[in-house]
Amino acid sequence: MKTNGNTILITGGGSGIGAALAQRLHDLGNTVIVAGRRIEALNATIAGRSDMHAVVLDIDNAIAIEAFVEDVLATFPALNVVIHNAGIMRFEALDTRRDLADAEATITTNLLGPIRLTNALIDHLLAQDHPAIVTVTSGLGYVPMTAAATYSATKAAIHSYTVSLREVLKGRVEVIELAPPAVQTGLTPGQESRPGYQPLAEFADEVMALLTAQPTPGEVMVERVKFLRNAERENRFDETVVQLNEFAAKARAAQS
Ligand SMILES: NC(=O)c1ccc[n+]([C@@H]2O[C@H](COP(=O)([O-])OP(=O)(O)OC[C@H]3O[C@@H](n4cnc5c(N)ncnc54)[C@H](OP(=O)(O)O)[C@@H]3O)[C@@H](O)[C@H]2O)c1
Repeated sequence: MKTNGNTILITGGGSGIGAALAQRLHDLGNTVIVAGRRIEALNATIAGRSDMHAVVLDIDNAIAIEAFVEDVLATFPALNVVIHNAGIMRFEALDTRRDLADAEATITTNLLGPIRLTNALIDHLLAQDHPAIVTVTSGLGYVPMTAAATYSATKAAIHSYTVSLREVLKGRVEVIELAPPAVQTGLTPGQESRPGYQPLAEFADEVMALLTAQPTPGEVMVERVKFLRNAERENRFDETVVQLNEFAAKARAAQS
């Protein structure tokens, strides 16, 4: 993708990976709009930076997405890149009957959110110069974490949806999948300092090196995620499911 002079919308830009990438993309000379539910968090991301903007969006609300896109495109008609980064991760126990509110919320935010936002932007993007769509999946889309089964399933679904977008939009809109490994952010309680997870700044720097490569790879995979991304390709899927889930359980237990 073009590395500067873009107008980039990043959902979930008020914290974690979204905030780190938003600031790095802004440093390169892009106009960046961060969107999310918490205006204070968004304002902290853009503090002291010109050409960086904060707009409130609840990606769970289909009607709000349409209104948001109308407003954002009126203010930023040059918008040519969207990064679908907003997401939630909830732990769940599949072996006990439970309230499915968390599972349903995860599907709404992580799967319907990017589908709806892409739909609201697609006609506009097709008319721009150097348009790009970046989805944020996860290594868990390739090898599921059983304690977050619905989360993992939404990321596998977004991987699949990204493949379809890339094929359909070939030569017209660049479509990039970014699949993070386990990164130290506030995605789940205690994760910001969880041992064995990649420090956020190190991850964001590695992503930027890949994202700014020319041409940008269709899949932006940092070194640490290749263990999961390539598990099936390398015929070690079953043992990787076991290894991943043991690692994840130990990392969480170490903190409790
Ligand atoms: N950290 C990891 O280990 C990891 C690994 C693989 C993939 N990922 C993915 O990376 C992305 C960013 O996560 P993160 O790790 O940076 O965690 P994070 O700091 O919790 O960021 C998630 C962001 O999504 C936003 N968000 C959540 N629900 C939203 C909604 N309904 N509407 C609008 N925005 C919403 C949040 O902002 P508000 O609360 O203000 O709305 C927040 O800024 C997610 O898609 C996650 O699945 C993370």
